[in-house]
Amino acid sequence: MGLFDDALRGGESLFINVLALDYDFLPKLLPYRETQQRYVVNCIKPLLQDRTGKNVFIFGSPGIGKTTAVKYILNELEEETEEVIPVYVNCWQKNTSFKIILEICNSLGYKLTHNKKTDELFKIVKGILNKKAAVFAFDEVDKLDDFDFLYMILEDIYKKSVVLITNHKGWLDDLDDRIKSRLMPDLLEFKPYNLTETRGILRQRVESAFVPGVWEDDAFEVIVKKTAALEDIRPGLHLMREAGNNAEARSSKKIVLEDSSEAVKKLDEFSIKSSNDLASGERDILSMIKENSGKKIGELYEIYKKKGGSLSYKSFQRKIERLRKNKFISVEKKMGGDEGCTTIVKYKSVTKTLDEF
Ligand SMILES: Nc1ncnc2c1ncn2[C@@H]1O[C@H](COP(=O)(O)OP(=O)(O)O)[C@@H](O)[C@H]1O
Ligand SMILES: [Mg+2]
Repeated sequence: MGLFDDALRGGESLFINVLALDYDFLPKLLPYRETQQRYVVNCIKPLLQDRTGKNVFIFGSPGIGKTTAVKYILNELEEETEEVIPVYVNCWQKNTSFKIILEICNSLGYKLTHNKKTDELFKIVKGILNKKAAVFAFDEVDKLDDFDFLYMILEDIYKKSVVLITNHKGWLDDLDDRIKSRLMPDLLEFKPYNLTETRGILRQRVESAFVPGVWEDDAFEVIVKKTAALEDIRPGLHLMREAGNNAEARSSKKIVLEDSSEAVKKLDEFSIKSSNDLASGERDILSMIKENSGKKIGELYEIYKKKGGSLSYKSFQRKIERLRKNKFISVEKKMGGDEGCTTIVKYKSVTKTLDEF
């Protein structure tokens, strides 16, 4: 028997549409985000009545439907009218004004972009968009290297809504005043899903991705619980795929508890392993943050000192920044209080892991 006979025989897969487990799959329905979607739609609505729209700043932790909710709205808008042009840009992939304006040209179908500078390209964009109205969605704005394009859009496009999306609420505080005062966005927070909502979302994905009836209840429930604890839907999708693969590898017609537990165990091991890649000083700081998640950076520094840490506050801050960049922790700036601006540091267990899949 050949090594690949199983796979080649086919026809007995537990999956009917494995694409439904992809992170960028757009589900047919987006439950539990109606309120937030309605909010964004209300910001955009004036554009359909020949007025300018409102701008909105969307923030919330990773994997809780921010991107999906906005893409959904843009798709519907495109179906609804030709008078308002939807523009979506991921600023992680396009992180400079030049790349962003070029991307907008592409999405508007303008092809003669070769050898043109940012200003020239923007003139073209302006010419096209000012004949109509536009909704700009800039996703992952914290990854941007410069903000000139934003200034240009706020100044020179007449009828528009600008939607900015990020995992970091504090990003807005640090934004250049020149831009902030023109943007004046409404703030819209996305909160993580609770256990029931997480179950509902994953149930819906099971129905799109798997042959009916292949999931044993307890196998599904383990994944629901793990996903809800992580407050991020993506690991849930990953775990469902892995559990399905585990069951197929056993040539089983059912996905059982062991298939899910095995997948969860692998995910946990993987996040521990990737934290082992850190320098030892960073690993110590990370494990201290894990024990004290949600504390202020100043408080963490005190604990660090008490434990015998030797870094200066500045260097400690730099380590925190490195851990944040590598997605082991999240950092949130809070305004107000006695000290003015404070920084809250939270431990994040698997986000790092998932970006690598
Ligand atoms: N309410 C929901 N219903 C169905 N799927 C959802 C919902 N919210 C999030 N998802 C799924 O979770 C994954 C992560 O969502 P995404 O919008 O990329 O998160 P974010 O932009 O907040 O990081 C995507 O695969 C998305 O389809
Ligand atoms: Mg996103």
